[in-house]
Amino acid sequence: MYKLFFRLVFQRMDPERAHHLAFRWIRLAVRVPVLRTFVAAVLAPRHKELRTEAFGLRMHGPFGLAAGFDKNAVAIDGMSMLGFDHVEIGTVTGEPQPGNPKKRLFRLVPDRALINRMGFNNDGSLAVARRLATRTPVFRTVVGVNIGKTKVVPEAEAAEDYVKSTERLAAHADYLVVNVSSPNTPGLRNLQSTEALRPLLTAVREAADRTVPGRRVPLLVKIAPDLADEDVDAVADLAVELGLDGIIATNTTIAREGLGLASEPALVKEAGGLSGAPLRARSLEVLRRLYARVGDRIVLVGVGGIQDAEDAWQRILAGATLVQGYSAFVYEGPFWGRAIHKGLAARLRTSPYATLADAVGADVRKPV
Ligand SMILES: Cc1cc2nc3c(=O)[nH]c(=O)nc-3n(C[C@H](O)[C@H](O)[C@H](O)COP(=O)(O)O)c2cc1C
Repeated sequence: MYKLFFRLVFQRMDPERAHHLAFRWIRLAVRVPVLRTFVAAVLAPRHKELRTEAFGLRMHGPFGLAAGFDKNAVAIDGMSMLGFDHVEIGTVTGEPQPGNPKKRLFRLVPDRALINRMGFNNDGSLAVARRLATRTPVFRTVVGVNIGKTKVVPEAEAAEDYVKSTERLAAHADYLVVNVSSPNTPGLRNLQSTEALRPLLTAVREAADRTVPGRRVPLLVKIAPDLADEDVDAVADLAVELGLDGIIATNTTIAREGLGLASEPALVKEAGGLSGAPLRARSLEVLRRLYARVGDRIVLVGVGGIQDAEDAWQRILAGATLVQGYSAFVYEGPFWGRAIHKGLAARLRTSPYATLADAVGADVRKPV
């Protein structure tokens, strides 16, 4: 039904307008108690065997909403109602900013992909912190806060901007993510070099500990799929050295590989980050590489191109404790979370593993 609706309605609309429309419906539905209870019962049924723990946080399952969908923390309960076991809000920047001029989001329907150059449009760390502070949660869910650099802040002053966001947001975050991998903020991805990343992560860690003295807020870094393999290794080593809690792999790609011939060539040429099915192979490859390097010392979050339960399962076997998705939600609609959970539970049941945690990294650990 959703697919028909998508073809008849959403596909004829500008993608960003369709996003806002869907968003408004989700937010409206969550305000009506009977409706939200009903929707959550249908779309987010719990499977006990999928219960997951990562960096000391307990979740109903491993499947979360990737950053970028709820940039301003306005639909956490709505997304939880749709079956996401954790919701990563942001990217939030130190200061509010409008993002890039529109049009900046494109659908490559035959490839089940998106290209975006949103450019961190968001309300800024102060407004989002206030929103999180005054929020009365309806559903219990883990909230990750993903932070990035304000566009006008020079690269050399990036750390101060991240620290500002950390000071405002860490107290409201179940976990914090340093995003250095969006292709849509000039120079941002240079921060992935270990020389830039070491002082940045150290400064954010110190700021989080200073601002939230009673709790060690888990700190993760989100990386690009376009890093060379040796740079992936370098980030992995640095993460272990600094005692980071996790690595999220991956963000969108600037490559245009894995696309068929059916998507309009003009769309394929749009500048920005490519997400969805064409990203699947590289994201999985980066994840495997990370797991081979860090093993169980750091939590890995697999994201990029996940379409269905089989993809999510493959990420878990490749080393992911948590998995996330965004683009396929646009194409699959509100039943996506339910299908992923059902499929994961079925796979676990017929697998040789007693728990989901036992399955994490099993494919990489296997002797070849
Ligand atoms: C429209 C759009 C906006 C995004 N914005 C952000 C963002 O603000 N911060 C971030 O870390 N990732 C952002 N992402 C990347 C996603 O979180 C995710 O890493 C990527 O899309 C790969 O997952 P997918 O193939 O399931 O979409 C965005 C993705 C899309 C499609």
